[in-house]
Amino acid sequence: VVGKICQELGFKGYLVGGVVRDILMGRRIWDLDFVVEGDGIKVAERFAQHYRVNVHPFPEFGTAHLKVGDFKIEFATTRRETYPHPGAYPVVEPASLKEDLFRRDFTINAMAISVMEEDFGTLIDYFGGLRDLKDKLIRILHPLSFVEDPVRILRALRFAGRFDFKLSKSTEKAMLNALSMHLLKQASRGRLLKELTLAFREEKLLDILKLYRQYKVLEELIDGFQWSQDLELKLEKLKEVVSWHKIEFPDKKLEYGWLYLVILLEKVKGEEFLRDMSAPAWVRELYRTYKEQAKEVIRKLHQAKKPSEVYLTLKGFSEPFYLLLAIEESLRPKIVLYMEKLSKLKVDVSRFSGLKGKELGKAIENEKLRLMDETFTLT
Ligand code: CTP
Repeated sequence: VVGKICQELGFKGYLVGGVVRDILMGRRIWDLDFVVEGDGIKVAERFAQHYRVNVHPFPEFGTAHLKVGDFKIEFATTRRETYPHPGAYPVVEPASLKEDLFRRDFTINAMAISVMEEDFGTLIDYFGGLRDLKDKLIRILHPLSFVEDPVRILRALRFAGRFDFKLSKSTEKAMLNALSMHLLKQASRGRLLKELTLAFREEKLLDILKLYRQYKVLEELIDGFQWSQDLELKLEKLKEVVSWHKIEFPDKKLEYGWLYLVILLEKVKGEEFLRDMSAPAWVRELYRTYKEQAKEVIRKLHQAKKPSEVYLTLKGFSEPFYLLLAIEESLRPKIVLYMEKLSKLKVDVSRFSGLKGKELGKAIENEKLRLMDETFTLT
């Protein structure tokens, strides 16, 4: 359909960027990015008419967004970006497809597929993206790429972690150079933290964090942050806990990335950082509880000799908090017992028919405690 509309208008249309990469890698796609040599917004408007959906144009950027079913679709006019000086906002002008691809971050993200009838499906790869995909390499298109846009430092490590790719030699050199200039401290904090939240949603987050450690990027972004062996170990153990939780409670759609962030921020004053990251309220609450109460709860759990003591120690906290406590392996049996059994225990209330209100509650609670100590044992 896009090809036909472009044809009618005398334009040329292409799929570009991440979607092309994902198609070539055989990955699932939900975002379709098209660029048009001509006028992207015009094409988007006709496309929206065809599918009878709303279109949201952004004339100042020459782009338009729409949704068809589960697909998020963006149309843009091919453009060139030139930077008057490093780190400055780019000057944007309409340009050829090649120039549009050249302004992008990495070779694997700078390929296009034609959607025109005459060469439908043809891959356009000016910069060796396909070769780099095969060689599993992240490669920038020109040496100043990270200087022009330091957010790309984080993006490079996110893609490297996600796909298990390496940085090409020259890309690594350029990145180290940009890092030594502390460009992450100077770039727009809003954009950097937005990119960081994307990383914290990734399945391979731990691998990305290891790359962050290797290149010392969190030190640039979080005041007072320092890596340690203990911290890395905790994150590895958290990964075990998360894998367990995903299997045992598949319906609980928890955003696990935040748990890793809470652990990363344990030793710093992280409240402000969480706010800057737009962390949801439950995360900020979890952070506070973890910092203020985890030590004491862990101590009590170690001492607990009966299921009822485990229950009384853990009652009232949130599920994410239990997951953080379970980082400590020796506590896991108690926490699992609580989450799977003790917290769900029901008692027969018909025996207490004479009681009401507070008294009833107390009787039920006592019966629960008695029952759990009778039914379960701590191993
Ligand atoms: N891009 C870029 N520099 C950036 C951000 C984006 O050059 N700082 C370009 C890349 O070509 C990228 C495209 O814009 O492929 C779309 O950006 P985005 O949707 O953020 O990236 P995807 O590659 O689609 O990543 P993801 O798979 O995480 O959605």
